[in-house]
Amino acid sequence: MDKIIVEGGVPLRGTVAVSGAKNAALPALAASLLAEGDHVLHNVPDLADVRTLGRILRHMGCVVERGEGRTVHLRVPAALNAEAPYDLVRTMRASVVVLGPLLARFGRARVSLPGGCAIGARPIDQHLKVLGAMGAEITIEHGYVEAKVPRGRLRGAEFVFDLQTVTGTENALMAAVLADGETVLRNCAREPEVADLAAALNGMGARIEGGGRAEIRVHGVSSLRPMRHAVISDRIEAGTLLVAGALTRGDVVVQGCEPDHMAALLEKLREAGAVLELVPGGLRVRGEGRPKPISLRTAPHPGFPTDMQAQMMVLAAVADGSSVITETIFENRYMHVLELRRLGAEITVDGKTALVKGVPRLSGAPVMASDLRASAALVLAGLDASGQTEVQRVYHLDRGYERLEEKLAPLGARIRRVSA
Ligand code: EPU
Repeated sequence: MDKIIVEGGVPLRGTVAVSGAKNAALPALAASLLAEGDHVLHNVPDLADVRTLGRILRHMGCVVERGEGRTVHLRVPAALNAEAPYDLVRTMRASVVVLGPLLARFGRARVSLPGGCAIGARPIDQHLKVLGAMGAEITIEHGYVEAKVPRGRLRGAEFVFDLQTVTGTENALMAAVLADGETVLRNCAREPEVADLAAALNGMGARIEGGGRAEIRVHGVSSLRPMRHAVISDRIEAGTLLVAGALTRGDVVVQGCEPDHMAALLEKLREAGAVLELVPGGLRVRGEGRPKPISLRTAPHPGFPTDMQAQMMVLAAVADGSSVITETIFENRYMHVLELRRLGAEITVDGKTALVKGVPRLSGAPVMASDLRASAALVLAGLDASGQTEVQRVYHLDRGYERLEEKLAPLGARIRRVSA
């Protein structure tokens, strides 16, 4: 198992490029199932989660190959094995995004139930409800979602989500594009990744209005053509790099990010005292002195993203004062707190709220990553801590960051990966 070793205390300086968004690439790859033929997807990050979905698509009978740069070529056959097995799904919950496209195109699907994960229970009831409203018959048998469409083809429906769910909205969209008639989805997730999926689907010939808004209308079409799409940039990776610049009191340009997708985060970085500036093709961040305390509450987009909560907590941990952080999306997303405390952070958690009393500096120690964003937070903490921080279980980090150490080292960070 790899680990990452960081010697803290170097202000980061220079320019770093952002990769494509994991959470946009995954549904786009799944959307290829909607059309037979040769698909081309650009700006796909080379990540463990992307490779997992590639394995699932291959298991079904697709050909998935990486081309030049960050391009992925997919060949989707006329008939395939509409099953996502437990061995693959259990390593990545997002595998559930194959359910909508399989039902839409083949009228049947067998997808392992994802189960809970480190950050919370994460049920998929909304996915199943919306597909049911479109005419799917769904049972859970032997740990699998067994779904079929008795009349062969899904039908358009009106549906209001009980809560905003990102992959739930994506599954509904991918199901509705090939359904008979019109679908109206309300209380949809408004994340930029949902809008990007809608754009990819429209490029295949789908008729979606309002992707990225709370109400989405889909006029079903009888077939789609293969996809040609470039995935948007990863706003969470960009945010993580911005925090790194601010935290180390550095001066970093993050190239290729989309500031419009990051408004709530940029607001909180400014509140923490970071100096942000739009530059051609990206954002420049400078950290001057100790961060200021912040108050933040995670919320569905355009609110503050839960996927940046752990990283912002590191900034709060060394702020000049006390910060209050409230996590409203996942019930168990504070596992980085215990590890940050090992580095000297003063954090107490009461239910959904963490009170973070800033200390002048963290002190390096061996720590253990528990989930993807928690690992990123621990690497950030190491960048600022005195002495050496050793982050173990880096496979969590590799699920969602393309070799983070190779992005930070050219900025001056003393960071290296050690393969066991
Ligand atoms: N929820 C339900 N029922 C459902 C679906 C969701 O109760 O049927 C609840 C969840 O348990 C959670 C909330 O609704 O409390 C929101 O979950 P959502 O469905 O939006 O999450 P997701 O689609 O499973 C995506 C990202 C996550 C990100 C969340 C929230 C992908 C592949 N994953 O997950 O990304 O945290 O949205 O923004 O898009 C990450 O990249 O580190 C990551 C965890």
